[in-house]
Amino acid sequence: MSADNPGLEIRPSDAPVGAEVFGADLSAPLSDEVFAACEAAFDRYSVLCFRGQSLTPEALLAFSRRLGEIKVNAFDQHALEGFPEVLKVSNLQDEGGRALGYADAGSHWHTDMSYTAEPPRRTLLYALEVPHDDSGEPLGPTLFASAAAAYDALDEETRERIETLQAVHRFAAKERGVKKPVAVTREQIEKNPDARHPVARPHPKTGRKALYVRKGECIGIDGMDDAEALPLIDRLSDLIVEDRFIYRHRWAVGDLLMWDNPAVQHVAIRDYEWPQRRAMWRTTVR
Ligand SMILES: [Fe+2]
Repeated sequence: MSADNPGLEIRPSDAPVGAEVFGADLSAPLSDEVFAACEAAFDRYSVLCFRGQSLTPEALLAFSRRLGEIKVNAFDQHALEGFPEVLKVSNLQDEGGRALGYADAGSHWHTDMSYTAEPPRRTLLYALEVPHDDSGEPLGPTLFASAAAAYDALDEETRERIETLQAVHRFAAKERGVKKPVAVTREQIEKNPDARHPVARPHPKTGRKALYVRKGECIGIDGMDDAEALPLIDRLSDLIVEDRFIYRHRWAVGDLLMWDNPAVQHVAIRDYEWPQRRAMWRTTVR
């Protein structure tokens, strides 16, 4: 319980990132004091989970807009009807087996929209339906790795080596690596040229450095041969996702999860199958 904000409780996880927030109802505007306390917790824990929310698309958008400018995702075919800024992340299907949402979102480690020149700081994901096993345990967890803690764990020599390096991030690099890409259109590819970002990237708000590189998303490093760059990208990528840096989020219906893309990488675990249902709404905020 916070002395300044009676009713607000922030419970950190055991991992380097992640905290649960209780006592903040996001269906109505938060007071300035509670909002500021949540923002301070976000700067510190990088992944916040507001439990037990009951949100309309309008309420999710109102909260998102208070945080910053909303970015529209490149996978625009899965926008929520009437709300182009809300992406449906879901495995739901219609009777003909047609996908009703973006089902494969985040099935490999990544940080959101790093392929853009100005990646969004935050992603918000609101859980409408969560799959579970026969004993009621939730399935489909999302894992978050602290890329800042991983940077802190580097030896001095590596830190100096990567200090000025810029990695090249490619939109849908994984999908485009196969012979017949089906998940992306030529128009989407043309709209999203490669982007360059520091390998050791200072956080835009806190200034804390984090590793901002990921194999499968980064196709190289500026001015460095692939023979040297790709193994370096692999090595840093593997470091980030070591167990010691990971928070495992167990979803519950009503969770509004918000994460700090410059500080963490994440992966959605696909340990469930239709007709087990998973449905979420997502916004991204600059
Ligand atoms: Fe993601």
